[in-house]
Amino acid sequence: MNPAATSVRRQLNPPPVPASPFPYNPGSLLSVMDLSVESVSRLLARTTALENEDPLVRDRILAKRRIALLFYESSTRTRTSFELAAKSLGADTTLVSSLSSSIEKGESLKDTGLTLRALGAEAIILRHSSSGAAWLLEAETRLPVINAGDGMHEHPTQALLDLRTILAHLRPGTAPVNAETLAGVTVSIVGDILHSRVARSNMLLLPRLGARVLLCGPKELLPELAAQAGPGIAIERDFEAAVRQSQAIMMLRIQAERLAGLQLDLEEYKTSYQLTGQRLAALAPTAIVMHPGPIIRGLEITAGVADGVQSTILEQITNGVAIRMAVVERALLAARQGGRA
Ligand code: CP
Repeated sequence: MNPAATSVRRQLNPPPVPASPFPYNPGSLLSVMDLSVESVSRLLARTTALENEDPLVRDRILAKRRIALLFYESSTRTRTSFELAAKSLGADTTLVSSLSSSIEKGESLKDTGLTLRALGAEAIILRHSSSGAAWLLEAETRLPVINAGDGMHEHPTQALLDLRTILAHLRPGTAPVNAETLAGVTVSIVGDILHSRVARSNMLLLPRLGARVLLCGPKELLPELAAQAGPGIAIERDFEAAVRQSQAIMMLRIQAERLAGLQLDLEEYKTSYQLTGQRLAALAPTAIVMHPGPIIRGLEITAGVADGVQSTILEQITNGVAIRMAVVERALLAARQGGRA
């Protein structure tokens, strides 16, 4: 057969793309794309219900169920809030961190996951420096896996807690949420977009509820390609123009640990992209100011703005515990309920 003719035929009739098997487990949360808008709405409703539940009743929901937190990267907010969330539901948790476990001796992610499963873990919450690690762990263990941040890829529970924060301020009392709930809302995500799993998960989630996402930063930290990550996303290089259009401004830390030789003039960066009290008062006096943390005061944001009345930074952290209660509950109960929640 003429190979050229075969190739042309292939282009005209491309083979069907096989359906993704991920997530294997209905309780897993690997990406915000695992959740339909309806599922997001149900999770938000469940978050509020769990938050308002009598702690003594809540404590029995996952009584004695075993959850492993597997952290290959440092974390304050995500790790603590997952642990508190799981404990609030009565679950037993154990933390395995790369610095104090056999990971230091060279044990692989697969073997660590299988070991945790053999020890009785019923779900694993994973933070890892490699993009895609949560998918690998899920494929190997078939346990519910919650992605607590994989490299520069995704951080789905951060996007959910950010969404809850945005809704509380800009659409209070709205439930259920749908594809139009955030219509007319512009969220600017500013700074080190290239290395940010928070930015990616937010830009994949917020437009599906109707928000417009503006990405803002210098070329080194924000490639043009980012605007093609999905619908509802645009690039605005001029920080002040972005702030002027925003109802929510999400500032990001420059991830020095992932810059890999990239040289940035930090004084120049501050001049162009620092969120100062002056800029905020002049351009967006009613917008909310968000940050996933950790914040670097005096670099991407001034101390005055971080501590100011427009800041929702601490509220985001509190929402992290609430959202993660619903996500952990879903992880362990979705399989029993026979489908994706
Ligand atoms: N937002 C966030 O992921 O913070 P930690 O790295 O402290 O978990």
